[in-house]
Amino acid sequence: MSDVAPHPLDDPAVDPFAIAAQAAEQIARLTGVERHDIALTLGSGWAKAADLIGETTAEIPATEVIGFSKPALTGHVGTLRSILTPSGRRALVIGARTHYYEGHGVRRVVHSVRTAAATGATTMILTNGAGGIKDHWTPGTPVLISDHINLTANSPLEGATFIDLTDLYSARLRDLARELDPSLDEGVYVQFRGPHYETPAEVQMAKAMGGHIVGMSTALEAIAARQAGMEILGMSLITNLAAGISPEPLSHGEVLQAGKDAEPVISALLARIVAAL
Ligand code: HPA
Repeated sequence: MSDVAPHPLDDPAVDPFAIAAQAAEQIARLTGVERHDIALTLGSGWAKAADLIGETTAEIPATEVIGFSKPALTGHVGTLRSILTPSGRRALVIGARTHYYEGHGVRRVVHSVRTAAATGATTMILTNGAGGIKDHWTPGTPVLISDHINLTANSPLEGATFIDLTDLYSARLRDLARELDPSLDEGVYVQFRGPHYETPAEVQMAKAMGGHIVGMSTALEAIAARQAGMEILGMSLITNLAAGISPEPLSHGEVLQAGKDAEPVISALLARIVAAL
């Protein structure tokens, strides 16, 4: 017998939106902030942005909020931060991402996004560290996500819920980001299940399909954000060339290091984007 309490989202009879609403109430109580305007999920390499976008008024361990799971990885900070931006907006920074590869199901993967929407957020910024297929994207390059290909064969939508994904990654927000940094390139993000990195043949498949970025997050979260009616900005930090694009083998350590090295620059960029929203 396990002594671990059952996770509320694992019960198919439970409405995941009701759990998200409860989580949002808890966040309001624990942070003292009734409503948030913007939410950000900070993936590897992006965590420092939280220090730059404004004044942190509250920080809580995500595990104190219903539906959030313990982070699987060190380097993924398991906290929720409420930040007051210089323009007086409230930003909720989610440092606790549940990845699809953890095998806990899609409901848990998108719970943070649904919770963000339930706190009132109308803009969802999704960031990640990812592999690049365009060979001039050196490690440390931030790129905008223009669209995605979801190779998980799964969806956060349950039942016959038909949702349009045209312009899933807001053209308006991408334009705004490019106004601040005209050098920003963009590409199609391909979500693989992971946690293994892709084979070179899989990377070539992704490229032939129209993909430019390979990763293990974001697409499922973006679908849930669209379902919740949020405007979405997706950004990848290219931490490495995707398998086979460079002759070098991939190492998780190098991926983390590339994220650390690029962090000050991309975090400052993200903070400027948030200020301009
Ligand atoms: N593939 C998938 N996920 C990743 C990669 C990659 O090359 N780099 C960082 N996350």
